[in-house]
Amino acid sequence: MASSKKVRELQKRREEIQLGGGEKAIQKQVAMGKMTARERIIELLDNGSFNEYDLFVEHDARDFGMEQKKLHGDGVVTGTGTVGGKPVCIFAQDFTVAGGSLGSMHARKITKIMDHSLKMRMPLIGINDSGGARIQEGVNSLAGYGEIFFRNTLASGVIPQISVILGPCAGGAVYSPALTDFVFVVDNISKMFITGPEVIKTVLGEDISMEELGGARVHSEMTGNAHFFAESEAECFEQIKMLLSYIPWSNSAERVQKEVVEPRKEFNINRIVPADKRMPYDVRDVIRSVSDDSAFLEVQENWAANIVIGFGRINGKTVGYVANQPKVLAGVLDVDSSDKSARFIRYCDAFNIPIVTLVDLPGYLPGVDQEHAGVIRHGAKVLYAYSEATVPKITVILRKAYGGGYIAMNSRHLRADFVFAWPDAEVAVMGPEGAANIIFRKEIATAEDPDKVRKEKVDEYIEKFANPYVAAAKGFIDSVIEPKETRNVLKHALEVSGNKEIGMPKKKHGIPPF
Ligand code: HXC
Repeated sequence: MASSKKVRELQKRREEIQLGGGEKAIQKQVAMGKMTARERIIELLDNGSFNEYDLFVEHDARDFGMEQKKLHGDGVVTGTGTVGGKPVCIFAQDFTVAGGSLGSMHARKITKIMDHSLKMRMPLIGINDSGGARIQEGVNSLAGYGEIFFRNTLASGVIPQISVILGPCAGGAVYSPALTDFVFVVDNISKMFITGPEVIKTVLGEDISMEELGGARVHSEMTGNAHFFAESEAECFEQIKMLLSYIPWSNSAERVQKEVVEPRKEFNINRIVPADKRMPYDVRDVIRSVSDDSAFLEVQENWAANIVIGFGRINGKTVGYVANQPKVLAGVLDVDSSDKSARFIRYCDAFNIPIVTLVDLPGYLPGVDQEHAGVIRHGAKVLYAYSEATVPKITVILRKAYGGGYIAMNSRHLRADFVFAWPDAEVAVMGPEGAANIIFRKEIATAEDPDKVRKEKVDEYIEKFANPYVAAAKGFIDSVIEPKETRNVLKHALEVSGNKEIGMPKKKHGIPPF
């Protein structure tokens, strides 16, 4: 049995270190509306489940007066715990200790817990709140970041990696979150940028605040770097718990079976999509009308909203949804929506989550801006991601499926396992008006009454092509279904896809249009 003197010494050491940068620094942290590193971990993990490691690690810097400085825990708290009863690895940078700056031992604590999470196949949660590379440690800090980036890449697609930005995340430090699967930001607290306002002022002479440059709204609405936006740290932790309830613990873990709750009555699938093809609607209502308990966890809700991605459950098990959003830009594919959906498809594929695709789009967005922004390269990512995905892939064409959009949105030709269409679906090269104007241009131009002829030709085109039956006659669509049959059809398609196994050509890896 340990002597009581030694136990007291341990307790004293613990207490001292757990005070981080001390009362004053903690007060400053609180005044900024931020929790401390340990409070954050405790709030996020199950009650009493946190076990801390490397509490007694000390920095090894010897320049710029560092030898006299004691940095408790070297500015980062690491350990294991549980969320919803299941194990996770976690680290949280402690801004109260030298601004959470990353020196070599700080980095080593992080890489140690990263190695543990990969070895034990459990999710890694990283809470970032740091001034970046510890300036006094020079290249040792840079080496530390390099070691973290390498491990982020190695673990990608094996275990879920979650980054939470709860303070500054500056310079090269931003690249660890960027390499992880999901980035969470909080209004007024998160700041992410490569070069800060001071550098921008010096080099470009432009004045910009940290918030305008890389605040939470910037990254959830403009850049797409963030996947979840919260108003407060507490809300952010609830979002993380919710995400973890949907995703598998590793790429070899079984999908969890939850209790099946039928969709709520208020989401009546017969009433969501308007008969008039030009009328918008919210495709999230369709998702909710087929999902268990009408629950849907949307990812990147505020960015590239012309496509909707996220998680739901059908028959108690998680599925990933990819759906065109007719109420934003008519649901077109463009540069950002292509990036957004392609990455999500690859996430689902890596973690064995079946993908349900809901289609209603007029195609890729035309325009000089899009062409010059690289819509060819970005748009190709969607084709690549669907084509290489080997998880069960199910498509429902709700209304329009025109042109390249039809092919890209998980068509049979990219190896969808099941393609269903509603009776109002139109599978065609383009919309009837555009098609008639092109193929009957001469007849319309030379007619006595061009408007009358145009209408006749549009009607002729609608009659012939603007329906799901031409594609169904070729077997490109497996079944034309009534909207109210959708949930049952999806349930069945998922049930019979459980043992899916397909081969791919042997290769080291493909070369996606990154
Ligand atoms: C060492 C640092 C530090 C750093 C902050 N501190 N950043 N120490 N290295 N990078 C220390 C401060 O000296 C201070 O110590 C304490 O942390 C709190 O910092 P404050 O400046 O008082 O806090 P605040 O006013 O809130 O400002 C926060 C900040 C600012 C905006 C993050 O500290 C800042 O601009 N820091 C430098 C950011 C930066 O340029 N980092 C390098 C990026 S380059 P005391 O002892 O006074 O309490 C990079 C390269 C990585 O990261 C490349 C990887 C590939």
